[in-house]
Amino acid sequence: MTAATSTNPAAPVLVDTDCGEFGDDGSALVIVARSPRQLRLIAVTSVSGNVWAGEAAAFARRAIEAAGLDAIPVYPGAALPLIRNGAMVRVAGQRWGDNGYRGAFDRPTIAWGDASAAIQALIHAADGHQGKLTILALGPMTNLAIALRLRPDLEGRIGRLVFMGGNVHVPGNTTQSAEFNFWFDPEAAAVVLRSTIREKVMFALDITNKAPLTRALFDRIVAADTPVTALFRRDYGERYPGFLRDCNATGYLWDELAAAYLVDPGFVTGEKREYLDVETTFGERYGAVIPLDRRLAPDATAVRVMTDLDLERVTTLLVTKLTTR
Ligand code: RIB
Ligand code: CA
Repeated sequence: MTAATSTNPAAPVLVDTDCGEFGDDGSALVIVARSPRQLRLIAVTSVSGNVWAGEAAAFARRAIEAAGLDAIPVYPGAALPLIRNGAMVRVAGQRWGDNGYRGAFDRPTIAWGDASAAIQALIHAADGHQGKLTILALGPMTNLAIALRLRPDLEGRIGRLVFMGGNVHVPGNTTQSAEFNFWFDPEAAAVVLRSTIREKVMFALDITNKAPLTRALFDRIVAADTPVTALFRRDYGERYPGFLRDCNATGYLWDELAAAYLVDPGFVTGEKREYLDVETTFGERYGAVIPLDRRLAPDATAVRVMTDLDLERVTTLLVTKLTTR
């Protein structure tokens, strides 16, 4: 299976991901890679989040190749979030607690590469698609924030941002206040939510909490024996949430929902528009989604917060995309 050619009217998409061993990022990449009629995957940029950006690039490349695409450029991006560092993670954990999952901050530090190619790829993609580019952001928003700061005019050149991150009216999943992608880089998330990008489609915990990944769904997917389902089975079965060692394990569809929206937006059955910002004061609510004081960003566009879904419709899409040979 190969990506559609450039003459194809499929929507150009750049995916920014903190892909771990496979996980929700890997599933999301497979959904995009296996939807060539609707989507033309032009590049992938990686960012530190679940793992360090250099690792995420390798894992993302592996997921895409398992899906049958091998000509997609994958650029390792920003190694560290804009402000947060390991010392702040430790101090915050001691003072205010967290749920124990700190992603890359719990992994051995690795040598950093040159992230400029990733930022350039983001900028080039936005410049090259005359407002038609969709950016699918599946991790902390560090790369996107840097690109917007280097080239503020990009805010008007990006057609659509669809992202997984944040928690608007529900608790966080990394601290009580913050969802992981926003927790990892609150400042970057604030830059993006305050931007004038014309369409910002948010898959926050408000909707992903309504999409459990159950043992039954795991079994539907691993019933097929393919390179993709082998990666899926090893990660979801043996690592997180560990279905093969704990039959009561459960996870959530996070990044998968954002990716599925590009293919079949009709599975979303409810949304609301809100002007949003992110708490960037280092404290108990660091990384929380907060209402935007519009005096601070008068041109900020509203965020389309997805709130409800047809779960069977999106899980059927996921199973189909992951089990295709
Ligand atoms: O909170 C869920 C998000 O954090 C997902 O994007 C998952 O991959 C992790 O990055
Ligand atoms: Ca992710």
